[in-house]
Amino acid sequence: MRQTTTSETPATQDQLAEEGKLEAEELGGVSTPIVVAEQIHKTFRSGEIEVHALRGVDLTIGTGEMVAIMGPSGCGKTTLLNTLSGLDSFDEGEVTIEGTSLADMNDRRRTDYRARRMGFVFQSFNLLPVISAVENVEMPLLVSGVRPAQARRRALESLESVGLADRASHRPMQLSGGQIQRVTVARALVNEPALVWADEPTGNLDVGSSTEVLGLMQQLNREKGQTFVIVTHDPQVAALCGRIVRMNDGEIVENE
Ligand SMILES: Nc1ncnc2c1ncn2[C@@H]1O[C@H](COP(=O)(O)OP(=O)(O)O)[C@@H](O)[C@H]1O
Ligand SMILES: [Mg+2]
Repeated sequence: MRQTTTSETPATQDQLAEEGKLEAEELGGVSTPIVVAEQIHKTFRSGEIEVHALRGVDLTIGTGEMVAIMGPSGCGKTTLLNTLSGLDSFDEGEVTIEGTSLADMNDRRRTDYRARRMGFVFQSFNLLPVISAVENVEMPLLVSGVRPAQARRRALESLESVGLADRASHRPMQLSGGQIQRVTVARALVNEPALVWADEPTGNLDVGSSTEVLGLMQQLNREKGQTFVIVTHDPQVAALCGRIVRMNDGEIVENE
């Protein structure tokens, strides 16, 4: 990947652009895929009721892309993120991540893989209210076996990268909505994931905070080549992404 370049001097924007172009040319317009989903179907069943939430979704995400997923409420966006990231199962189709099919990974490997390579900005993974910002951010590192002193150092660096170094010892309730969301982003990014999934990351934020959080993601995408897949209702958020994928009723209806 680009950020692992071994040259001593950092690559210039032009060189990066040139590399990107070469990659794109080799692969017919798409950089090396990090996620490939083919004909994904997912049906929720509860009692008599069935919801066919994903109806044959094909989607390829290139390494280093920043993609927005849009569509009306209930069209399957969250279900798509959950299934593509291996958090939830699907009924038909295949998802390949960095060349390995999710079906070929057991639960343990999927969990390990997620801890090492993925970050999540999901409302359902809220911060724990009773511990400080830095303790929240270091949690994923501790869970994956990083030593406490190193975890703390990296968590502080991550908080610094979202501009919250001076709030490290604050608990979530002592922070504003935008700051809480930035802590969530710091936590998602602390393991330097190749791939970040965000579900309505600016959903509860005012315009200022929302711009702040998105600007941060965009900067990381550009500087570190991290891949972002962002579900959003907000056209301004989507406009910052390199590509907009639109869903309706369990299908992709537009892929710009
Ligand atoms: N756990 C679940 N059990 C049953 N139905 C679900 C479940 N999760 C989502 N659904 C249904 O699947 C459809 C897609 O939901 P979702 O992916 O959450 O949509 P979106 O994120 O686009 O708003 C909706 O009709 C929703 O009611
Ligand atoms: Mg949703």
